[in-house]
Amino acid sequence: MGWFQSLILVSFVLVLVFRVGKTETDDVIEALVGFMEKLGPGSMQNTPNWGWNTSSDPCLSHWHGVACDTSNQTVKNIVLEHLNLSGTVDFESVCKETSLLLLSLKDNNLTGSFSQDISNCKRLKLLYLNRNRFSGNVPDSLTDLTDLVRIDMSNNELSGNLPDMSRNTGLLSFLAQNNRFTGQLPNFNYRLLEYFDVSNNDLTGRITDDTGRFGAKSFAGNPQLCGKVLSNACQPEKKRKKKDLHDLFIYSGFAILGLIVLVLIALLFLKKKENLEDTKIGSKNTKDDGISSESKTGQIRSEFSITSAEKGEVSGSLVVLSSPVDGLRFEDLLRAPAELIGRGKHGSLYKVIPNGGIEVVVKRIKDWEISKVEFKKRMQRIDEVKHHKVLPVVAYYCSKQEKLIVYEFQSNGSLLKLLHGSQNGQIFDWGSRLNIACNTAEALAFMHTELKDDQIPHGNLKSSNILLTKDMDSCVSEYGLMVVDNGSSNSNAFSVDVHGFGVVLLELLTGKPVQSNGLDLAKWVNSMVKEEWTGEVFDKALVVEGASEERMVGLLQIALKCVNDSPDLRPDMNQVAAVIVSLKEEEERSMASSDS
Ligand SMILES: *[C@@H]1O[C@H](CO)[C@@H](O)[C@H](O)[C@H]1NC(C)=O
Ligand SMILES: *[C@@H]1O[C@H](CO)[C@@H](O)[C@H](O)[C@H]1NC(C)=O
Ligand SMILES: *[C@@H]1O[C@H](CO)[C@@H](O)[C@H](O)[C@H]1NC(C)=O
Ligand SMILES: *[C@@H]1O[C@H](CO)[C@@H](O)[C@H](O)[C@H]1NC(C)=O
Repeated sequence: MGWFQSLILVSFVLVLVFRVGKTETDDVIEALVGFMEKLGPGSMQNTPNWGWNTSSDPCLSHWHGVACDTSNQTVKNIVLEHLNLSGTVDFESVCKETSLLLLSLKDNNLTGSFSQDISNCKRLKLLYLNRNRFSGNVPDSLTDLTDLVRIDMSNNELSGNLPDMSRNTGLLSFLAQNNRFTGQLPNFNYRLLEYFDVSNNDLTGRITDDTGRFGAKSFAGNPQLCGKVLSNACQPEKKRKKKDLHDLFIYSGFAILGLIVLVLIALLFLKKKENLEDTKIGSKNTKDDGISSESKTGQIRSEFSITSAEKGEVSGSLVVLSSPVDGLRFEDLLRAPAELIGRGKHGSLYKVIPNGGIEVVVKRIKDWEISKVEFKKRMQRIDEVKHHKVLPVVAYYCSKQEKLIVYEFQSNGSLLKLLHGSQNGQIFDWGSRLNIACNTAEALAFMHTELKDDQIPHGNLKSSNILLTKDMDSCVSEYGLMVVDNGSSNSNAFSVDVHGFGVVLLELLTGKPVQSNGLDLAKWVNSMVKEEWTGEVFDKALVVEGASEERMVGLLQIALKCVNDSPDLRPDMNQVAAVIVSLKEEEERSMASSDS
């Protein structure tokens, strides 16, 4: 071996030795050290184990504020908060670390502006720059950060236009309050955002949030901003004028079309009338299916006041169980205005506002062959077995002809409405759906265990009986109000609930409505799964949102077990709840790890 070869070998070995103990390339380490120098750490660098020098490694020497990916030892998080850093941010340098997920520099004394290079931090999810003295414009390149989940740049001195983040569909927080931003408010995906605040800036024009999810607080302190949620309503749009002539043509076109349609209808109507008179058919078709629950405001009072006939003899036998309507009397219920809000096979539902002012819902059950004593015992048992996700009975009334059960009114409607009603721009994401599934499963499992000996299942579990409280929490309503067929065996009574719950799960997963007692939906899902088209059954909204397929499939599997045709093969609610709780825990773990 000549001296030249030896030299090469020695250099090679030296390089190897030098590389040992480094997880990042020297380039990246140098860049990070440069980034720290510009932040102006001052006396902070004298703290023990501060690191941030080129002779150590960010991951192995555990630099202050640095966290690394455990599997491949690359810098994942840089958190330098409350350090009185008073320099500037060199985004070009820090973004050499391309695997950075979290950068937090909040609560410092940093100045200067953001550079275009911010977009080199391609994988950044969380960016916290709030409570500093940053100034200048926010570069458009911020919107290139497609993985961005939360950005907080509030409480700085930033100016210019807000970035247009409408393409950043994963964004959950956008906080830019207490700055000096000007210009029009760009569009955001308000449906998907959890937190949004642009208050106390100098924004102009109209509020672009047409979902109404964010109130005045998010927009206040911008004197030239207008919109419904602010006291400053917008003027009608001006560009109207230009279009007027064009519109006139369109509208007159519609008018003529409308006229033609009207004439046609009139002609048809006349013809039909002739036919009817010929055959003399006059039967009224009053439909009474078990599913409909839409409001029929026309029938206020009339139906309900039939009960007044009994008033004299049974007055005072209303049993009040819980407090929100203290001193409620049967007369109060009868006298108060009642609005029919639902009608099914087994009874009707009224919204009543007795003198106290607290809105209640009265369920009126027809044809329930149950003795007064039995009914009373049942109500008392259900009241004893309290679960916080089961809507408590406020009061009940029982006579031979009439059974009334009073609940507190829940203003946010039912799961049925949330899934299939007009959603008002609300999104109903995977996390919320899994939450409702979990709450309901746990509530039912608890009630089933406690009421097993009493043989009181829910009896009529469906998505219209899962209500949303004012905090959008879910609770099960109308527990135990169903006549359970004596012919069915003991375990059957509870497995009917399990089937009902399985159908609710299918609704949550598919977003599709149920027909004829859930049989159609269950059949459809089963056939899809048999054909190995499992992916096709899930609600498109969930797929778009990027919900975990693994956990959706997990929930689908348990749902299909619940809707098994043979009651004996269905799991019991405790088993179902255990599976769903573990799915929810997995979901929470994965959210936590992707957020930090
Ligand atoms: C570099 O940082 C490491 C880790 O904190 C420390 O042990 C070492 O003394 C530092 N080296 C210099 C030259 O400051
Ligand atoms: C390090 O591992 C994480 C997660 O395991 C991965 O997302 C990332 O791409 C890896 N980074 C590099 C530089 O290989
Ligand atoms: C923060 O740093 C500045 C300049 O480096 C210094 O004047 C000030 O006293 C520091 N403040 C605190 C609270 O340490
Ligand atoms: C920020 O820096 C200025 C001047 O450098 C200093 O006067 C002030 O105390 C610092 N503020 C904080 C909160 O440290």
